[in-house]
Amino acid sequence: MAVLIDGKAISSEIKEELKQEVAELKAQGITPCLAVILVGDDSASAIYVRNKKRACEYIGIESRSYELPKETTEQELEKLVRELNEDETVDGILVQLPLPEQIDEEKITGMISPKKDVDGFLPESIGALCIGSEGFRSCTPAGVLELIKRSGYTIEGKECVVVGRSNHVGKPMALLLLEQNGTVTIAHSRTKNLSEITRRADILVVAVGNPKLIQADDVKEGAVVIDVGMNRDENGKLCGDVDFEHVKEKAEAITPVPGGVGPMTIAMLMNNCVEAARKKRR
Ligand code: GUN
Repeated sequence: MAVLIDGKAISSEIKEELKQEVAELKAQGITPCLAVILVGDDSASAIYVRNKKRACEYIGIESRSYELPKETTEQELEKLVRELNEDETVDGILVQLPLPEQIDEEKITGMISPKKDVDGFLPESIGALCIGSEGFRSCTPAGVLELIKRSGYTIEGKECVVVGRSNHVGKPMALLLLEQNGTVTIAHSRTKNLSEITRRADILVVAVGNPKLIQADDVKEGAVVIDVGMNRDENGKLCGDVDFEHVKEKAEAITPVPGGVGPMTIAMLMNNCVEAARKKRR
């Protein structure tokens, strides 16, 4: 039976560390501040935003909320992002995605100052990751890395397979594992013989949004399996991209869904906000 990698516990540990650090920053007159922009009334987005604001409150980060109607124009949103870029009291800017269809998502997220890109979505941030220079790391992949490290697994020299090549998860995930000296393969929807490739993995990260795609036969005995998926199964129950019940019999360690990667994304967002504020000390 695999060890369960408890994302809730590890994210709590990180939040406690950040809370301590924020108290120290406040003692020096610095209060980290995150601007959170939510446009429209998407119910899932509203829940995500609420959880992000709650985490800010817990840690001691000021969250400034901008909840705009779904009819908001691109120009109005551009104006807000520009103002927040200029506002020295704001350390991080988060534009919750998806945005309504009249707004060009790439254009808006691309306007955020790289110094405030706490989501790590900007081409500048991904580029910095690519060449190993300073910049914000995308929250979900950074959270996966913390899960692996804090569970005591090393990445150096390991066969790492990332299934999925999205800009927000798969690609930055592969780059982060490479930065840690893993031997990295990216598999995706056009990959031939997927199972042959996933079976090579010492560390397998799956982020495709395909319920229970990875079965026990697709996993090497003793692998560390990280499931980024968040889907509903045929009974409407939350499930990942990995068939947890069967894979857990074969893996060395595995993340559950929910309670694995999910809580880590917010913890790493908080980490990025604190990092942005920390830079003010210099
Ligand atoms: N929508 C779903 N996840 C995310 C996220 O991590 N960041 C932003 N900005 N929007 C999202």
